[in-house]
Amino acid sequence: MERELFALRMEEYRTMVEDFLDAQCVAADEPYARLLDAMRYSLTAGGKRLRPILTLEFCRLCGGDVHAALPVACGVELLHTYSLIHDDLPCMDNDDLRRGRPTCHKAFDEATAVLAGDGLLTAAFETASQADVPAETALRCIRILSENAGMNGMIGGQVLDMLAEHRRISETELRLLQKLKTGCLLRAACELGCAAAGKTDTESIEAARAYGDKLGLAFQIEDDILDIEGDEKTLGKSIGKDAASEKSTFPSLLGLDACRKLAGELTEQAVAALTPYEGRAFLETLARSLTGRKS
Ligand code: IPE
Ligand code: IPE
Ligand code: MG
Ligand code: MG
Ligand code: MG
Repeated sequence: MERELFALRMEEYRTMVEDFLDAQCVAADEPYARLLDAMRYSLTAGGKRLRPILTLEFCRLCGGDVHAALPVACGVELLHTYSLIHDDLPCMDNDDLRRGRPTCHKAFDEATAVLAGDGLLTAAFETASQADVPAETALRCIRILSENAGMNGMIGGQVLDMLAEHRRISETELRLLQKLKTGCLLRAACELGCAAAGKTDTESIEAARAYGDKLGLAFQIEDDILDIEGDEKTLGKSIGKDAASEKSTFPSLLGLDACRKLAGELTEQAVAALTPYEGRAFLETLARSLTGRKS
């Protein structure tokens, strides 16, 4: 897709998402205002907003109304932000920097960060349920989100990630770990776009899932590469943490060169999965723009 057109649509989606998120978790004079401040602190710190952008674009491709789907798209981002707050806790990755700011538990305190995560997770479903779509569509969206975020999705992946510290695992185990911890939510983001548009045919859904799966794996490989050779300032998070915790990552298993090659191949597989979709140029460019990313 032509560079300018791509940038324009990215900006349009980003603005829609930022404006919506900006109106969330606004503390008035609640006695628990500090909780809302912590939720808002992490939510409005920036971030690429990749997941809601995927939802909105798949919705558009499926002939849906992106404005009606916006609460669903932002529901995914609320959930993703919760996962980052909890991922950074001392009992998990123990990180001090996130989205260019001190992590939530550093800026507030651990109990507040746990509860801010809980609050965002719950708000994700509340928000998605408010989408201006038929009740059956909303229910399908909630189901997709919960299945991919839960024990057989992201949470399962986070558990495998912790269990794989300080030991070498096989590539098969690593693929499952990455597929669950990162792939599931990216896949859900894509599928949710179709669902919010009311699309239920197998071909559209399977293509969206396949794109999300391949993109998700490529995305986590790039994340692992950035942990080794990224720039802390551009990235907005600390580097070198995976090696320090002896995490099992693709670079630790295959080396950097093989990882770059694999991420490139997976990206092209993601692009190839889009064939059923006419007007897929934006998603093709998006996938390719993520290889060799700097943030
Ligand atoms: C970071 O996700 C955590 C992973 C799943 C790799 P992102 O790289 O999408 O983080 P933000 O949303 O841009 O901060
Ligand atoms: C986090 O993976 C995945 C989830 C939050 C589910 P990482 O631990 O690699 O993410 P970063 O590098 O801290 O962003
Ligand atoms: Mg982690
Ligand atoms: Mg982490
Ligand atoms: Mg990482």
